[in-house]
Amino acid sequence: MNLTIIGAGYVGLVTGAVFSDFGNKVRIIEIDQEKIKKLKKGEVPFYEPGLKELVAKNTAKKNLQFTNSYQEAIPKSEIIFVCVGTPTKNLQGGKPDLSYLYEATKSIAENLKEPAIIVVKSTVPPGTNMKLAEWMKKFTKVDFNLASVPEFLKEGTALEDSFHPSRVVIGAENKLVIKKLLLLHKKIPGKRLICNSSSAQMIKYASNTFLPMKITFANSLAILCEKLGADIKEVTKGMGMDKRIGPLFLDAGLGYGGSCFPKDIAALVGLAENAGFDFKLMKAVQKTNEEMINHFVRKTEKLCQGSIKDKVIVVLGLAFKPGTSDMRESRSVSLIKELQKKGALIRACDPVAIPEAKKLLTNVEYFLDPYKALEGADVLMVGSGPYSWEEYKNLDFVKLKKIMKGKVVIDSWNIYNKDKLKKLGFTYEGIGR
Ligand code: UDX
Repeated sequence: MNLTIIGAGYVGLVTGAVFSDFGNKVRIIEIDQEKIKKLKKGEVPFYEPGLKELVAKNTAKKNLQFTNSYQEAIPKSEIIFVCVGTPTKNLQGGKPDLSYLYEATKSIAENLKEPAIIVVKSTVPPGTNMKLAEWMKKFTKVDFNLASVPEFLKEGTALEDSFHPSRVVIGAENKLVIKKLLLLHKKIPGKRLICNSSSAQMIKYASNTFLPMKITFANSLAILCEKLGADIKEVTKGMGMDKRIGPLFLDAGLGYGGSCFPKDIAALVGLAENAGFDFKLMKAVQKTNEEMINHFVRKTEKLCQGSIKDKVIVVLGLAFKPGTSDMRESRSVSLIKELQKKGALIRACDPVAIPEAKKLLTNVEYFLDPYKALEGADVLMVGSGPYSWEEYKNLDFVKLKKIMKGKVVIDSWNIYNKDKLKKLGFTYEGIGR
């Protein structure tokens, strides 16, 4: 099929690469000329395992092309995916900004020559497709149908999540549209759910707010475990054995971050408020997540005899989670800023995110090699979690014992063997143990 994708961000680029790999002819429209230039040269503007190779392979086959021209791409398209950003400016609870979506759909409408299906992949409030249909009709007389196929990919495992998703949700009102979208997704395994477009959009918000709620529950429980002498790892393991609960997204740590969870919770809180409903549960999740940072700052102070002023603290992992260079809403950034406020001297390590981190942080010394960073340091602190980079998980603590000045380890995501470290003479604190 002839497909067009609007937006070469995470979702757009991955969607384009995956569908082109199935033999479809895919054009990606991106307004940023610099980005197009890089993509044409085979450079992917962010770190995502396997994506560069997949883009290069399908660009070489001419199944994947990049352009900034709606005029060139839209008239040839049977299905157009809209993958533009829908940021939430006020992260306490605000409406998502749909201006990119409206701009993109206007340009699509103005350039339609043949009937087409426009699939909204961006995360948008339920009911958006009805409004978009009215909006687009102002700019075209050509027939079109709107559908909603939300994206559930995780950064770092985006390709695996796209080639083998848990489910494909198709939200559409027209039977022929559903048939065509099912055909397009034929080579992708996983369950199918056909529903109306508003439900599809709500499924996305519901999933992206339920998961951080689950994480936040584990974080609160971890604090309680610390007070009552239980071990959060054992507790969540036991909880996760119940099929109704499941073991995933129960890892306690610094809290959730990233480009989706914080913005989608804020959007849901805002949408609820607009609809006259006070979503207290989600507000509590937001507040509790924020408070996790100070919990860790207090832990560090306690282990440093009450003050971290002039202490050299090494933060391992800067991106919002390991396996990505994405710094959006990274807990490490909030953590480092709080530690700096208390006078700590920060050294930071990350295998791929240092250039991005430099844009957000000041007065930080960066290292690729954790051993160099930890030489003469007072505190080792795990930043991004929950799974962490292999090189940080497998550090040689016998060596570290010799080179670190202080012997304090704050294991923010419980990735180390507490007993082993204590035996080696480290002062150790994890979370909830
Ligand atoms: C998320 C959703 O998982 C995905 O389905 C959606 O499409 C986009 O948003 P992503 O933001 O890439 O994906 O990251 P994810 O792996 O879900 O992690 C989000 C945050 O939760 C990270 O900050 C991570 O550290 C944190 N997390 C995750 C925990 O704190 N504990 C856990 O057990 C799991």
